[in-house]
Amino acid sequence: MLLPNSDVDWDLVISYDVHMTVSLSHILGAHVTITDRKVALEFLKSNVQANLPPHIQPKAVVKELTWGQNLGSYSPGEFDLILGADIIYLEETFADLLQTLEYLSSNRSVILLACRIRYERDNNFLAMLERPFTVSKVHYDPAKDVHIYKAQKRNQREDL
Ligand SMILES: C[S@@+](CC[C@H](N)C(=O)[O-])C[C@H]1O[C@@H](n2cnc3c(N)ncnc32)[C@H](O)[C@@H]1O
Repeated sequence: MLLPNSDVDWDLVISYDVHMTVSLSHILGAHVTITDRKVALEFLKSNVQANLPPHIQPKAVVKELTWGQNLGSYSPGEFDLILGADIIYLEETFADLLQTLEYLSSNRSVILLACRIRYERDNNFLAMLERPFTVSKVHYDPAKDVHIYKAQKRNQREDL
């Protein structure tokens, strides 16, 4: 897959894609933080319990994250890899989502966002993302009409 350096102790946060979590945990021995809004957490926990093999469950933490809120409960730049599946769809959350991605990532972090571009506003988010991050399209699945974008923080010297 697209992941550099599998011998590091990866931390990752995703917006709830349990199957991807299982695969990555297997491959990388990662410590995984799986997040969603408070209202979705109980469902998320039961999903994790139902899908993760028992020996991986201790490495997977389910934790509340509402984009843009209470970010202090996470450390800045805490995550090496951030995965988001189908999280670009609510325009009113775009600024908060961007702020969250900026807060949780460091200069070393890789962000992978899988999404379908349904409306022009989805492209607007990608344009917003390009201000603090270098963004490239790394995969397109025409059968599912799903794109995967990779984002990495811009090197500040790039902007001088
Ligand atoms: C379309 S679902 C995608 C769920 C899952 N990643 C998937 O691919 O099936 C969007 C997810 O984003 C979460 N979400 C929406 N607004 C959010 C917000 N403001 N903060 C955090 N998560 C949010 C929803 O609770 C939901 O889990």
